[in-house]
Amino acid sequence: MQLNQLPEWQALGEHRDEIGERHLRELFAADPERFERLTLRHEGLLLDFSKNRIEARTLELLRNLARACDLETWIERMFAGEPINTTEGRAVLHTALRHRGDTPVMVDGVDVMPAVREVLDKMRAFVAAVHSGEWRGHGGQPITDVVNIGIGGSDLGPVMVSEALKAYRHREIRVHFVSNVDGAHIDETLAGLDPATTLFIVASKTFTTQETMTNAHSARHWLLAALGDESAVARHFVALSTNQGAVESFGIDPANMFEFWDWVGGRYSLWSAIGLSIALALGMDEFERLLEGAAAMDAHFRETPFESNLPVTLALLGIWYHNFLGAETQAIVPYAQNLHRLPAYLQQADMESNGKTATRDGGFVAWDTGPVIWGEPGTNGQHAFFQLLHQGTRLIPVDFIVAARTPYSGEHHELLLANCLAQSAALMRGKTTDEARAEMQAQGLAADEIERLAPHKTYRGNQPSNTLLFEVLDARALGGLIALYEHKIFCQGIVWQVCSFDQWGVELGKQLAGRLLPQIRGAAPDASLDASSAGLLAQLKTWRK
Ligand code: F6P
Repeated sequence: MQLNQLPEWQALGEHRDEIGERHLRELFAADPERFERLTLRHEGLLLDFSKNRIEARTLELLRNLARACDLETWIERMFAGEPINTTEGRAVLHTALRHRGDTPVMVDGVDVMPAVREVLDKMRAFVAAVHSGEWRGHGGQPITDVVNIGIGGSDLGPVMVSEALKAYRHREIRVHFVSNVDGAHIDETLAGLDPATTLFIVASKTFTTQETMTNAHSARHWLLAALGDESAVARHFVALSTNQGAVESFGIDPANMFEFWDWVGGRYSLWSAIGLSIALALGMDEFERLLEGAAAMDAHFRETPFESNLPVTLALLGIWYHNFLGAETQAIVPYAQNLHRLPAYLQQADMESNGKTATRDGGFVAWDTGPVIWGEPGTNGQHAFFQLLHQGTRLIPVDFIVAARTPYSGEHHELLLANCLAQSAALMRGKTTDEARAEMQAQGLAADEIERLAPHKTYRGNQPSNTLLFEVLDARALGGLIALYEHKIFCQGIVWQVCSFDQWGVELGKQLAGRLLPQIRGAAPDASLDASSAGLLAQLKTWRK
């Protein structure tokens, strides 16, 4: 049945009209136990969702909707390896990559766990060899720098995690990431490196992605120009891919290929061999701790009733805002500088998954799907876009992410914590015009000045947020955090009736770039080009002469 025809959906619409714009201040004042009732815990994570525009009935209705959408069945279908990526005919089993213990995980009647463990063992041996200096470059020198060449899921996860956990990094090895086809990225990265001590990881599920292949060929050229011997490639290039034929054609020995499988989606692949750069940056033990944290979140997601299930709760809150209260975006604001790539990582995870209009059964949605995901670390965001959150006209739910303890300077961390808590409180409470007036009176301002400034000093408040408070954001906790968002996105896709696992929307641009490239290089203009593209092409040709 169409989602918006479900009685559970309609009940939520009616509930929204009933509770209207009830202010969060009122909700807190009416219920001294609101925090206790609207918090959930998992390991060293406390999710405070009390600063949301919800009442007990809202949650009940949202859970009814999830049940009407068969969410429980879909969760089981994913974990059981059913081909729920229906447009590509594949299972969706990134959870198998972090599965612990001896129980099998079946895909098409085959237990995938022996192959998963074999790749983990191969990664462990390789990381140990690079770290110990046993793995040497062509000229016999140990590796000092690793360059991961990949884009999208073959870049964003590894770079986000390596940055997030850099307090725990391996001090001898520097890991760099090159993703953009803009030559600036690879040229500037290689400028500081020595070919004799540099190892390249070519990370690509398909091994056909234009940006990655172009960068990999440039890296190969750079290496061979310095070392002058084709056989150097074997000591300086490894590949992470599902496509052995293409890896071999590039000239990488299959012995130096770390395999993964088509049931691992690109944006869910950091747990696979795609995580090799993370393991080289941090050590294999840290990488395994990341997997363990994600596995613990998987178990929580699969086994916990909706009432206390963290991913389900976050997903349903998002549905409330995006489908019933008109919010179009979701801000991700980690109060942790090292999580500075988390918003970018979640942009791909969420927007490539749920930025869809086709329904699973081949129709089109008549409701909003994936939100725009954006954000920056606090406190920096406070000095940039928070003005709009506090006094702008839009409803923007915010996820605050912060840890009680960090390995960094304590005094700074106290300030960071105070700011994080202050922002969510300010967004929730706001400041009434009367409060603004009273403050100015206390400061001794003249009456006409008070009236002139009062509207500008008023904050309507009632801006919702979640706070994800961690005891510490180590590898295990980060693994859990990423898995939490993965599952949240999954749940929303199920409710919105889209296929969250394909990404057909990126293909058209690739096709058009393929047509335009020869014209950029000088071929005659294609008469079927639209006037804007033809005009831009003509100007480019003039300026590039
Ligand atoms: O942009 C589309 C996409 O297929 C992403 O889903 C993927 O993460 C990225 O390209 C990179 O793909 P690959 O790992 O095959 O190079």
